[in-house]
Amino acid sequence: MGEADSHGEERLHRSLSAMDLTMIGIGAIIGAGIFAITGSAAATKAGPAIVLSFVLSALGCACAGLCYAEMAAMIPVAGSAYTYAFATLGELVAWLIGWALILEYAVGAITVAISWSGYFVEFMRGFGVELPRALCNGYFTTWVDAAGVTQHGFLNVPAVLLVAAITTLLIVGVKESARATSLIVLLKVAIVLIFLALGVGYVKPGNWQPFLPFGWTGVVAGAGVIFFAYIGFDAVTTMSEEAKDPKRDLPRGILASLAVCTVLYILVSAVLTGIVPYHQLNVPAPVALALRIAGVNWGAFLVSLGALAGLGSVVLVMMMGQPRVFMAMSRDGLLPAGISKIHPRFQTPYRSTLLTGIVVALASSTLNVEIAGELTSMGTLFAFVIVCVGVVVLRKSNPDIYRPFRTPAANVVGPLGAVTCLIMMIGLPTATKRNFMVWLAIGLVIYFSYSRSHSRLARVRSDGSKA
Ligand code: ALA
Repeated sequence: MGEADSHGEERLHRSLSAMDLTMIGIGAIIGAGIFAITGSAAATKAGPAIVLSFVLSALGCACAGLCYAEMAAMIPVAGSAYTYAFATLGELVAWLIGWALILEYAVGAITVAISWSGYFVEFMRGFGVELPRALCNGYFTTWVDAAGVTQHGFLNVPAVLLVAAITTLLIVGVKESARATSLIVLLKVAIVLIFLALGVGYVKPGNWQPFLPFGWTGVVAGAGVIFFAYIGFDAVTTMSEEAKDPKRDLPRGILASLAVCTVLYILVSAVLTGIVPYHQLNVPAPVALALRIAGVNWGAFLVSLGALAGLGSVVLVMMMGQPRVFMAMSRDGLLPAGISKIHPRFQTPYRSTLLTGIVVALASSTLNVEIAGELTSMGTLFAFVIVCVGVVVLRKSNPDIYRPFRTPAANVVGPLGAVTCLIMMIGLPTATKRNFMVWLAIGLVIYFSYSRSHSRLARVRSDGSKA
């Protein structure tokens, strides 16, 4: 059995240190964003000024990170933004955030699993192994073959195998999963540092001219796109219940992982655009390309290896976060109760993990990677806005609650974070905004047809009306 709290409810085992949490944060952050999306964002949105897009996006994330740190230390339970919204803005908003977090975690995992599969195919090609295309792409991915006939994928086997392996690891143990994440993080950070050390000597300052080929609007549009690269520091908060000392270590995990990645991203984007003229960067593996152009082929191979490991750890942490949000929603009665069961031996939320694994495996064989990526950003930005607003609301409504971590200048940082994230939301493509609205509408239908009447608050509501 899991440990029980004062309400007799099963709780997860506390086994994670500040270092584990920081590693989980970096594990979720460095992935497809920096290894893949940066190139197309520089080529098509911002040019060399993509460096400024990273700074702008970091500003929104830093404000949101500080607000998450306050909330996480104050309410250290597994539901992340969902739980904070419940505490500040009520059940309906909480439901919508929980629903939007599916876009961040499950759809984020789907996006990165598809990218991982693409990298894997390229990686094997480097060894002369050509994997069958129909078995490495989902059904909705099409291409034209040598005879001019349109073909489509059958099943993305590498993505399914990756998700199956990760699901098993997550069920077997959170400490084991954290240990695997730490190893991968060390590898990918080392490879990013090697890229910087090797690449800096090949920078031609002339490539940074013109610096703003798409103007300042390009910088803002670029920020919305590369925001994807920062997603993940908030995943630390879904592990609140498993932190040994959550009040102290959650803020450390969130802020340390974000700070490390911000510095790395700004440096990588500067070196990348310094080596390769920005308009040549619209390729699937721009960081490896830069080293190939510089003639450092072994470095390009290392970067591909780092990307492969890095993307794998992103999928792992996203798939670690999603079940814990489901668990929190199920404890509040918004999802069926059976979902929150904890495994008697492994002490992990095995049912919600399995559910996540099945959904991610099936969907990574169908969804389109760009649409999934933009929806991930949209859902995450929505959660960030609510957390930034929530901090300010709670400071006013409950000023005396004990706050182990206080967001500095919360009345400035909260609104600034909310506005910056809103600007990035507005900058996303119209189709993404429409898909997001459809997603929220489906969420509302489920809330009013099931969750509202089954929730814990529904019992309170009906007791109140009987009294
Ligand atoms: N930040 C994560 C990535 O770049 C989601 O892959």
